[in-house]
Amino acid sequence: MIRHLLSGADLDADTATQILDTAAEMAAVSGREVKKLPALRGRTVVNLFYEDSTRTRISFEAAAKRLSADVINFSAKGSSVTKGESLKDTALTLQAMGADAVVVRHPASGAPHRLADWVDGSVVNAGDGTHEHPTQALLDAYTMRSRLGRLAGLSVAVVGDVLHSRVARSNVLLLATLGAKVTLVGPPTLIPVDIAPGTDVCYDLDAVLPSSDVVMMLRVQRERMNDSYFPSAREYARRYGLDGPRMRRLPEHAIVMHPGPMNRGMEITPEVADSSRSTIVEQVTNGVSVRMAVLYLLLGGNNR
Ligand code: NCD
Repeated sequence: MIRHLLSGADLDADTATQILDTAAEMAAVSGREVKKLPALRGRTVVNLFYEDSTRTRISFEAAAKRLSADVINFSAKGSSVTKGESLKDTALTLQAMGADAVVVRHPASGAPHRLADWVDGSVVNAGDGTHEHPTQALLDAYTMRSRLGRLAGLSVAVVGDVLHSRVARSNVLLLATLGAKVTLVGPPTLIPVDIAPGTDVCYDLDAVLPSSDVVMMLRVQRERMNDSYFPSAREYARRYGLDGPRMRRLPEHAIVMHPGPMNRGMEITPEVADSSRSTIVEQVTNGVSVRMAVLYLLLGGNNR
């Protein structure tokens, strides 16, 4: 097993599949009345969040607690970070407290990689800037596999603000490893230039819908935009928003995903978000099982 999970590229097909299979076992536990396993008793997991988060933070906390680990939640607001303490000094503090795993979200791309040099425990990247979010890619893969029965050969359209999306970047890497075919869809201004080989690009959402097994809608990340990337929200929604008529052009079996948080009415309409094809709530549930699997395997559930 790997020591850290920093990037979708850290996972080969066997390791990724091992995580997804372990997550399925964890999901069975989550369905029981008593949801706790003793696997990480006496181990300490620190959640280090320098950026806002709802789902990811709660999900990692629930995952660590279900494995009986001691959980310390640190958010930059209200800590010595606001007094100017550096990431390195914070890391040394965590190290001194004996953290076995550090789950980190940070606005700077690459911060988790730096942290991995400074602590002895395992580092899990919970989102770094516009770079990567590997556990989101794993929970997305888990959701596709459980809804559609396979990953190899699936056509996955990743739609919207790809440029600023760490979710998209990690998904592109992981889905390629697992044999799915990814098409990036969005306005040319929001598609990055450095695209992984084997990934398709299309600027026309309507053209890709009939042949997609999965449509993954991305949030338009206005907080990361210091320029104007499209004429107006209305124009964006008209060309790249998923609404009812567009959804009905998908194959019968196709699913609609979104990592959350959603801009309802912008990239996705409520009709689509709340439809039976939408896996948005399921993704959140699956996130806990997948993060349990990641923590369990990284922290030696596999006899490291
Ligand atoms: C994403 C993130 O924070 O990268 N959300 C998440 O983790 N579920 C996507 C986003 O912010 O749009």
